[in-house]
Amino acid sequence: MIKQVFIVALLISIALGVSVHVNDPSVDVAKGLVFRLLPDHVNIFKFEVIPPPSGEKEYDVYELETSTDGLIIIRGNNAGSMAAALNHYLKYHCFCQVSWGADNLDIPKPHPKIKEKIRVTTIHKHRYYMNTCTHGYSTVWWDWKRWEREIDWMALNSINAPLMFTGQEKIWQETYDELKISTKGFFSGPAFLPWNRMGNLIGWAGPLSSHWLSTQLDLAKQIVKREREFGMKPILPAFNGYVPPRLNETYPSAKVVQMKQWGAFPGTYFLDPLDPLFQRIGVTFLSKLSQALNGTDHLYNADPFNEMTPPSKEEQYLSKVSSSIYSSMYQVDSHATWIMQAWFLAVDDFWKPPVARALLNAVPRDNLIMLDLYAEVSPVWTETSEFYDHHFIWCMLHNFGGRPGLYGKLPDVNKMLFKSISTAKNTMSGIGLSMEAIENNPIAYDFVTDMTWRREQVADMNEWVNDYADRRYGLPNKKSNDDVALAREAWRLLLSGPYNCSTDQMGASGSVVAATPGLNITGVSFAPLFIYYDVKSHLESRLINMIWLIVGMQCLSALALDVYKNIQSSFASKNVELFRKESEKLKRIMFDMEKLASTNKNFMLGTWTSSAKKWAGGDELEKSHLESNARLLVTTWNSPKWGAWEYAYRMWSGIIMDLYVPRWDIFFDECEEALVNNVPFDKERFNNRVTRNDWAWVYSDWEYTDQETGDTLEVIKQIYDYYFY
Ligand SMILES: *[C@@H]1O[C@H](CO)[C@@H](O)[C@H](O)[C@H]1NC(C)=O
Ligand SMILES: *[C@@H]1O[C@H](CO)[C@@H](O)[C@H](O)[C@H]1NC(C)=O
Ligand SMILES: *[C@@H]1O[C@H](CO)[C@@H](O)[C@H](O)[C@H]1NC(C)=O
Ligand SMILES: *[C@@H]1O[C@H](CO)[C@@H](O)[C@H](O)[C@H]1NC(C)=O
Repeated sequence: MIKQVFIVALLISIALGVSVHVNDPSVDVAKGLVFRLLPDHVNIFKFEVIPPPSGEKEYDVYELETSTDGLIIIRGNNAGSMAAALNHYLKYHCFCQVSWGADNLDIPKPHPKIKEKIRVTTIHKHRYYMNTCTHGYSTVWWDWKRWEREIDWMALNSINAPLMFTGQEKIWQETYDELKISTKGFFSGPAFLPWNRMGNLIGWAGPLSSHWLSTQLDLAKQIVKREREFGMKPILPAFNGYVPPRLNETYPSAKVVQMKQWGAFPGTYFLDPLDPLFQRIGVTFLSKLSQALNGTDHLYNADPFNEMTPPSKEEQYLSKVSSSIYSSMYQVDSHATWIMQAWFLAVDDFWKPPVARALLNAVPRDNLIMLDLYAEVSPVWTETSEFYDHHFIWCMLHNFGGRPGLYGKLPDVNKMLFKSISTAKNTMSGIGLSMEAIENNPIAYDFVTDMTWRREQVADMNEWVNDYADRRYGLPNKKSNDDVALAREAWRLLLSGPYNCSTDQMGASGSVVAATPGLNITGVSFAPLFIYYDVKSHLESRLINMIWLIVGMQCLSALALDVYKNIQSSFASKNVELFRKESEKLKRIMFDMEKLASTNKNFMLGTWTSSAKKWAGGDELEKSHLESNARLLVTTWNSPKWGAWEYAYRMWSGIIMDLYVPRWDIFFDECEEALVNNVPFDKERFNNRVTRNDWAWVYSDWEYTDQETGDTLEVIKQIYDYYFY
């Protein structure tokens, strides 16, 4: 009887063409997102699963409509598509925004209706997220709560192929234990793992505690599970050829070459692709990893030559390297696809066409996807006949090292991305975000992910930016018309200035105060000091009333650059009075920067270091090890003999006051000494003093707070009144 009822019900549902599933597990996953994000609005949504789209080059689909009883019905072919639909509703119907650092989730009451049913599909099979370096500059200290939030952000923004590098060291350790290879001197400290993994360095700021190894793997399991629930395919690490330095103690006849040094770091060790150990290590690692992570989604990253020159130019050798790497994946997973960062092709002259082709062509065409990592500035697909006819993902890199500052190339991205879509029809398999660090300039990333579901480029960038401002502040919901106009104007001004960069500079312009002081500073690490837009028009505009911390910091940096120029010229003309006056000015600016940064925990060293220390498992020694790792990465980075690098500098409270200010004090002191005694500036003595100062600070045990002080807008007003009136 029961069986018959069931069959009848089944027949009815077939007859009615019912293809929606409301009890699918992905409905619960999508609901879980709403519970976390909008606990007060759970009841206005209804979720349903629909089949994937069937058109050619259509990958995911979502639908939105308002039901007769006023509910918002969200349909998608998986939980990720439902999340994208939810974001569509929030962005375009409620003027809401989910963003790094802060959300605007003030949904109007009653909640807006959708007039006509919406159905959207995407032509992008892969929506890639992260860079190997993001796991150092941004995510290294994250706990599950922070990851959960980021995965929600990814889902809302349609990401379906995130790089998942967390926790792999535990598996490497087990792999090398099994093969009786010592890892002594191999792993770097946690903050530097991205470069350890890519074979750029070994041992630096290491080692890793066993507590770190196991808790990170636990975290990785949670990350992978949630990503899969949303229908994402996490990209897992695979063996790229770099091995521990003491491998030869166990395998004296193994063929290992020492690579050229990377920066100041001594050469690392690369295993010959034809050595039988190559497959053993690769296969052991990947089998253990997919076992630990409950399977695989068949996507793997391995970067053998990221900023590393291969030991041989021979095409045959390079083909062997890539076919060996691919083979170690294939032996474990016959559906393996290799995802490789193409950064090396964008920056390294070594890779002339036949050489690059040899590396790429040794992997079956459909099992390799190149990430065109810096496509908004140095696209590789255009220079290599679309990666010699391989698949690629168009990525925006945008940020280097998490260096701060307003910056973006929105109009360029708009043009270049759609040119790629229309030209590289057979090879482009998706879009991606490959920033080295997140949590800055969110508009740039919002723009790229907003393109996921579009077929045409944005016709009017000013309109797009108006809408962005509306979403950011929920303007049309509740603000006066004046406020709406003002905020839109502010963002259009930012679009015409910092977000319309047309130079090829690597990320935002640098802040002079963060540079190691000197008489001829031209940049901070790779960031030029030169500001490519008219800062003055920003300072003088009404924008200042609407601004927030970053613009304030940017204005102070611009001011600091002017003052620095006066310091330079007063030193050159030996005007001691003026030199002192301008030095004092620069210090006052730095004090105000510190004060401003202290008003928001996202701009405080204490936030970064306290999240690092949480990974110490209560061990005091490990705590200070993690604290110095955390400080090192965002300040001097590399070893003292090479001088401070500032590649990943930050404008954070704590760093400004306790690192930058003392450095400039030393500089002023040495300059005065030179001026008063009429002798040249003693560069060597200055360098020694600064190095000592930097290192003492990196390893000092001063505690930094993650408690905010003062009100951002109040401080900005004071700054504005003092400097700009
Ligand atoms: C292993 O290689 C290192 C680096 O090349 C070398 O210094 C060491 O002597 C070698 N050890 C053995 C046991 O061969
Ligand atoms: C492992 O993956 C399967 C699907 O392949 C899933 O049903 C199961 O819940 C997962 N187990 C864990 C512990 O995540
Ligand atoms: C961006 O700058 C270019 C010139 O480099 C200009 O032609 C274009 O109109 C600007 N776009 C916007 C949106 O300001
Ligand atoms: C300052 O440095 C730049 C770039 O390194 C160089 O071209 C210029 O000549 C230097 N100026 C002085 C005054 O040393």
